[in-house]
Amino acid sequence: MTIGLLTSGGDAPGMNAAIRSVTRSAIARGFKVIGIRRGYQGLLEGDMYELGARDVSDILHRGGTMLYTARSKEFATPDGVKKAKDILDRAGIECLIVIGGDGTYRGALDLSRLGVRCIGLPGTIDNDIVCTEYTIGFDTAQNTALEMLDKLKDTEMSHNRCSVVEVMGRKAGHIGVRVAAATGAIDCLTVEKPYDLDEICDKIIEQKNAGKTHFELIVAEGVVSKEFTSDDIAKYIEAKTGVTSRATVLGHVQRGGSPTCYDRVMALKMGYYAVELLANGYSNRIVAVKNDKLVDYDIEEALKMQKGYDEKLHSVLRILSI
Ligand code: F6P
Repeated sequence: MTIGLLTSGGDAPGMNAAIRSVTRSAIARGFKVIGIRRGYQGLLEGDMYELGARDVSDILHRGGTMLYTARSKEFATPDGVKKAKDILDRAGIECLIVIGGDGTYRGALDLSRLGVRCIGLPGTIDNDIVCTEYTIGFDTAQNTALEMLDKLKDTEMSHNRCSVVEVMGRKAGHIGVRVAAATGAIDCLTVEKPYDLDEICDKIIEQKNAGKTHFELIVAEGVVSKEFTSDDIAKYIEAKTGVTSRATVLGHVQRGGSPTCYDRVMALKMGYYAVELLANGYSNRIVAVKNDKLVDYDIEEALKMQKGYDEKLHSVLRILSI
């Protein structure tokens, strides 16, 4: 069996651990692995090479993806998918393991309709893949964001300020709500739960009058826009409360860094599971986590699922920030 392997969409810490796991699990079963550089775009350009066990040495602890990644416009067209299938056929690749998010899976679904045996692994810092409780990279990203928040806390405390901190997550508030809870923020603005900025300001005033000297407000990036930035939120809070406020956008720093133990171990397990699925004759499946266990779903079915949100954690952090 020849398995193509690619990473697509935004990179995430732990993708390398998954690449190592897939490669070595496949080699251990006597399969051949072809690494495809730069996701579906690299596939369309035929940018691929055979991966041996030693090619994936010394990558477990590295962030990013040794296969590089890209978002491909050409692949998103029917002609692009057809071209990709022809390239896979010419390279003798009958199976494809893709690591990425929902967009990556849609590509895998298109290829599976043309007969390629595809398996998807969830890789994105946002944890916004609908069929799974966890995605590779999420744990590292939330810990990186938390480390930055701890540093901000030192300076906001020294100056008696309010820090408005924007975290990543595209349209999802999973990183936001977790780090808000972990840092003791006054609240977190996310698209999943309604908020009232005036109520938050009243809470700040009340707490300031009761002796609290510094505050954090976490903003999930899905809430902001060009017309409503984190800086605008900081200015609004300062004007309404009299507490000097500064906005910090954490940005792409959250995508980098050495993966946590949790991300590495999950990536390792998922990579092994993906190869096992192919070896046992399954295809067109997404590997996911449900109730802390690895499971797999049909790709089409997986894409139709609804993502949960930790509503309870959000409510509790609001109650605790008194
Ligand atoms: O999906 C991961 C992510 O980092 C999101 O949190 C963010 O919205 C997006 O990618 C940024 O994409 P880019 O790196 O293309 O700017």
